[in-house]
Amino acid sequence: MKKIGVLTSGGDAPGMNAAIRAVVRKAIYHNVEVYGIKYGYQGLIDGNIEKMELGSVGDIIQRGGTKLYSARCEEFKTEEGQQKGIEQLKKHGIDGLVVIGGDGSFRGAKKLTEKGYPCIGVPGTIDNDIPGTDFTIGFDTALNTIIEAIDKIRDTATSHERTYVIEVMGRDAGDLALWAGLADGAETILVPEREENFDDVVQRLKRGHERGKKHSIILVAEGVGSGFEFGQRIKEATDLETRVTVLGHTQRGGSPTAADRVLASRLGAKAVDILLSGKAGRIVGIQNNQLVDHDIIEALNQKHSIDMEMYQLSQELSI
Ligand code: F6P
Repeated sequence: MKKIGVLTSGGDAPGMNAAIRAVVRKAIYHNVEVYGIKYGYQGLIDGNIEKMELGSVGDIIQRGGTKLYSARCEEFKTEEGQQKGIEQLKKHGIDGLVVIGGDGSFRGAKKLTEKGYPCIGVPGTIDNDIPGTDFTIGFDTALNTIIEAIDKIRDTATSHERTYVIEVMGRDAGDLALWAGLADGAETILVPEREENFDDVVQRLKRGHERGKKHSIILVAEGVGSGFEFGQRIKEATDLETRVTVLGHTQRGGSPTAADRVLASRLGAKAVDILLSGKAGRIVGIQNNQLVDHDIIEALNQKHSIDMEMYQLSQELSI
């Protein structure tokens, strides 16, 4: 393998730049040329491809977002789109590809691998919803962004003795809500993986207030539904003064934490090693602090789930 490509696709995540840097530097270290493909699979279809050098990835390890830009590309889900992408790979003489993104991005990587273009997936998403890895790049930074926001909201919630419903991202996964809720002592955490009885939530809030609790934080993962609707229901059922905050895309930005930079560097470099070793159709990950790789199809067929022990703990600590 003499030339490889790298792209970022789907929702961006802090740490993607550190992963790009690791891919580029590790490939050049092995005397392999690297081509950056801009705007994910859309850029692949359009031939938005540039050679990268050591200096192309200087001064980016600390930056959020992705230097290669990102996009969600419907066309690449079609046979025609994939064919156009393959033609561009052939034109540039690219022998293999590192795809940094989430599960949608890996479905594209799987298609390319099946058509003879070896791809390796690097899990980059704030959602932490990729099977086969304990953590995805960006999760830790998003978590810290959420915690900083909740700490601030808690100040005003205390001053005004209010109940706050805070909606966080995560798509269909509750990891961000669960970890943030545990880290910030939220009274209630609602995650899509576990159905909560609304009356139980109301009773818990009422019991707290009877005990003298003057403010409460309720974390709602977006996969459960709208924070605004939930806030309205709480207001009607309890008569407590309730406010709703949707943290939205603030969770996707910012300088990556040390944990994300290190994870991204390790996973990016591992992806290059695997590609150069002749393997294809793999996803790299970290499990019990060991770098691992799994078959892309097997990983995509598995269902991600939250850590139920952690969920139970969050329930026990918020009585
Ligand atoms: O997958 C990352 C994510 O931020 C999800 O948490 C969220 O549901 C989605 O992307 C938002 O996508 P977009 O930026 O396209 O609105």
